[in-house]
This record gives sequence, structure tokens and C-alpha cells, in this order.
Amino acid sequence: MIRAMNCTKCKTKAALKLPRHHAAFCKNCFNSFVHDQVHKAIRSQKMFEKTDRLLVAVSGGKDSLALWDILLKLGYKTDGLYVNLGIGGYSESSREKVVHFSETVAAGYGAVLHVHTVDREEGAGIRELAIIVNRPTCSTCGTIKRYQFNHAAIRHGYDVMATGHNLDDEAARLLGNVLHWQAEYLEKQGPSLPASVDGFAKKVKPLYRLTERELAAYCVLNKIDYVVEECPMAQGARTLLYKEVLNRLETESPGTKQMFYWGFLEKSGTTETPTSIAEKDRSSLHPCSNCGQPTTAETCSYCKLMARAKTSTLL
Ligand code: AMP
Ligand code: FES
Ligand code: ZN
Repeated sequence: MIRAMNCTKCKTKAALKLPRHHAAFCKNCFNSFVHDQVHKAIRSQKMFEKTDRLLVAVSGGKDSLALWDILLKLGYKTDGLYVNLGIGGYSESSREKVVHFSETVAAGYGAVLHVHTVDREEGAGIRELAIIVNRPTCSTCGTIKRYQFNHAAIRHGYDVMATGHNLDDEAARLLGNVLHWQAEYLEKQGPSLPASVDGFAKKVKPLYRLTERELAAYCVLNKIDYVVEECPMAQGARTLLYKEVLNRLETESPGTKQMFYWGFLEKSGTTETPTSIAEKDRSSLHPCSNCGQPTTAETCSYCKLMARAKTSTLL
């Protein structure tokens, strides 16, 4: 936040400075800027149309709550999905923020909130499940969330599943994939993945043109109450390190993050990539022998995880 600076567009007092765009905005012009960036993302990556039914995964954090708010305001039919991971007070306060937003804002647009509660449906919270199957908490969590996001979208007949990944998230992931030359992951780094085979929902990231800082500012300016604390299980230290490195570069040279990620999208032609992903998926994926969700193995990783958990005496 800054003092004594005027909005680049309307010349009233600015609320926020955006060095990467050589601009400063008042609240109204900042909201227009944010909506405009999301609109550009939706159009340029052919994410969805006004007639589509969208499901947004809302964690209670700033990004996904901002995304739900923006999509509703832009006139998209968007319901929410909260996955309660059962991580003590953290999951409880996340749930409260999501329910509060759903009741006070989303309901006014006729939107509904779906809640999936892991300890009720999977038999134990994420931390306990990870111990039972002897795997790191974050990867157990990732397997369950990915599965349940897709499952909910398919079960309730949504056309598209959206998540709140922002420019910082995508640039950090790209940096990691480039440093290790993870070619197969690079192919799937675009913000729009097709519903390549039956049983897979289309997945999109409409916030890839906005930074963490801009989304936090959007929530504060629009009085969207979100969970500030990070998950106590903490995401991989590597991702945090990549974000730190990119932030240093961004401070020295505003615009670096967007140049890196948007440049990658331009050079790799992601609007064409979904077609090749769809072709590859069609030849390598088939229904899981247990649940029917597409997988490259005989049984999907979610069903394997749950089978392992159920054979344990603890569940
Ligand atoms: P993260 O991997 O925690 O950075 O989250 C990335 C995105 O996944 C968020 O912006 C949300 O859209 C979604 N997400 C993460 N955790 C949850 C959750 N517990 N329930 C619903 N959506 C979630
Ligand atoms: Fe999944 Fe923290 S372990 S969000
Ligand atoms: Zn399965």
C-alpha cells in the first residue's frame, strides 16, 4: 500500500502500486484490472464460456476465495468445493472462512458449496492417513485432493474444475520443472488442461496472470476474509525457495515472473498443447479397475492409497 500517489487511470488517490505494470490503482480501477486479467486468461486459454457450469476448489485461502468472487462477478455460474482435510484448528478456520463467503456472498448469486470431509469419507484426517500409509503428508494430501476435485466435478456434472493457482505458484513450478528438465511435467504446465478422456474434468487456473500480492490486496480491498496462516504441514521447502528466488528477481527487475511464465506459454504454444495432451492421454489412460477414474496403472493412486490404509489395523 502506498501514500500520496494517484491512480494511473482515474487520477484519484491510489490504493496500490503495481511496479510490474508501471501503474498504481485506486480500489475501483484495481478491481477492473483484476477482472480484466482473469477475463484475458479465460479467453486466451479458451478456458470456458458463460454457458458452462464451473466448480471452483476453495481452500479458504486468499487465491481461491478471490477466484470464486471474481468468477461470480464476471457472470459465470460457479459453485464451490471445500475439502476438509481434518488438520485440527487450521482446517476448522479454513472451513469457517469458506462457509462465511459462501453464505454471505456466493449464495446471493445462487451458488452452492459442496463440502468433502476427509476423516468422514476416507476414515481419518490427512495426517493420520499419511502415517498409516507411511507416506509424506503433502503427497497423501495431493493424491486425495486431486482425486476428490475431479470426482466431485464429474459426479455433479460440472463442465470445468477451477483452482486458485496464481502467477507465483506457476512460475515457481515452472522454475522447478526447468531446473530438473522434467519434460513430461513441462507439457502439463499450461493453465488449461482438457477433459482428455471420459472421467476427467477439464482443469483450469484462471489466476495465472495475477500475483500472490495482488490477490491478497484484492481480498483486503473487497473485505473477503481469508485464512492467513499456511497449512501447518507446510508445502515443500523447495517451492518456497523457488518463490523466494523469483521474488528477489522481481524486486530487482519488476516483470520477471510474468516474463518467465507467460513467455514459456507463448513459446510452447499452450493453446495447441491441450490437443497433444488429449491424444497422449487417450492412448495411455484407461479406467481404474476399482473406481473407474482414468489412470495409467491397473488401479489409480487414490484407490491404492485407500486399499493400503484399509489393510492397516488402524482404520
Ligand atoms: P495449494 O496447493 O495449497 O497452493 O492450493 C492450490 C489450489 O488448490 C487452491 O487455490 C485451491 O483452488 C485448491 N485447494 C487447495 N486446498 C484445498 C482444499 N482443502 N479444498 C478445496 N480446494 C483446495
Ligand atoms: Fe495438504 Fe497441507 S498437507 S494442504
Ligand atoms: Zn481408483
